[in-house]
Amino acid sequence: MSTSPIRIHRPGAVTLASLPPLSLYVHLPWCLRKCPYCDFNSHEHPGEVPQERYLDALIADLEAALPQVWGRRVISVFIGGGTPSLFSPAGIERLLADVRARLPLEPGCEITLEANPGTFERERFRAFRAAGVTRLSIGVQSFDDAMLRAIGRVHDAGQARAAVAEARDAFDTFNVDLMYALPGQTLAQLHADLDAALAFAPPHLSIYHLTIEPNTAFANAPPALPDADLASDMLDAIAARTRSDGLQRYEVSAFARAGHRCAHNLNYWQFGDYLGIGAGAHGKLSFPDRIVRQVRWREPSMYMQRALAGEAVSNEHEVRAGELPFEFMLNALRLAEGFELARFAERTGQPLTAIDATLERAIEQGLIERAGAWVRATPRGFDFLSDLQAMFLS
Ligand SMILES: C[S@@+](CC[C@H](N)C(=O)[O-])C[C@H]1O[C@@H](n2cnc3c(N)ncnc32)[C@H](O)[C@@H]1O
Ligand code: SF4
Repeated sequence: MSTSPIRIHRPGAVTLASLPPLSLYVHLPWCLRKCPYCDFNSHEHPGEVPQERYLDALIADLEAALPQVWGRRVISVFIGGGTPSLFSPAGIERLLADVRARLPLEPGCEITLEANPGTFERERFRAFRAAGVTRLSIGVQSFDDAMLRAIGRVHDAGQARAAVAEARDAFDTFNVDLMYALPGQTLAQLHADLDAALAFAPPHLSIYHLTIEPNTAFANAPPALPDADLASDMLDAIAARTRSDGLQRYEVSAFARAGHRCAHNLNYWQFGDYLGIGAGAHGKLSFPDRIVRQVRWREPSMYMQRALAGEAVSNEHEVRAGELPFEFMLNALRLAEGFELARFAERTGQPLTAIDATLERAIEQGLIERAGAWVRATPRGFDFLSDLQAMFLS
């Protein structure tokens, strides 16, 4: 009779029986103008961006990282920013060819590119498709000219409409980013934005509550924003309108039709792995005995210089075993469907005993529900998500 080996978990150890799916994130850090609410690693660059040097740096960065992901296939690529659509289609084609030559991509791999309507030209968007991009994510934010001016966007509503129409015609799947609770926005204006977005029957919508982030122009000179009650009415309207339009809210801010969820973001939320290359990019990589987080040099010139010298990573550290339950919940509880319990052990390398007591407490408080092997936030848990996630801090 054969017996399977018994795994004994040492407290504080990380033991992964298998490695999770791997995604690739590529950061392109420049924008035409910095939006006053934005705290992403994006830098104003009104003229031509140093495209070729940056692409050289990205590939040097990738090559230096290859030993850490040896033999693994990539399930999704996300080219984000900044404003990646500032790069020429030929530049994106070169990037994807260089990536494919070094990393095996799964057949049918989702390849998303973030595009700003301010960079819209018909032929340009088509050429991104020809370069291998499978999914366009368009940063619309609002279809209202006054709102767009109030949040300092470089484009107007006409350009937003043209960009979305082109994405719909040229791509099998696409996403529209909207924000709500904008300065001075009324419920009627939000409904008008939803009317405009839903008229394109988008396969995917991301709708974010505008937040005032520290060290942004809005933090220094805050605009008058809708109060909490109005913002909450807006979220109710968003939930109702998207639902009746056939979009499912599968994550806090993400709404999709069947078959159009974002594979790349899902992998983050399911605590998968991602290699992040480019200025300031973050990465999370698993190994049989540890989980590592990395950050690249943030400032673009410094990044290019260091990446070309084979030193793109500015900080790398092992995640402590005690931090993993919270890190997992920070992602998995954002999903409406929650997670399978077995996935917790598989992705964190921690035994279920690490979360048992907290799960029970959250169930008693009506914040979490269990259905068989699945665990998810209740509607109340979703409303108090950060408090719920914080319960898993060690
Ligand atoms: C990484 S940004 C990049 C998208 C692209 N650069 C653009 O803005 O057109 C992705 C999305 O995050 C959202 N976002 C950015 N800053 C935000 C903030 N302070 N509050 C809420 N949403 C924000 C916007 O909807 C934006 O389209
Ligand atoms: S275009 Fe996007 S990334 Fe660039 S500054 Fe505006 S919000 Fe930030």
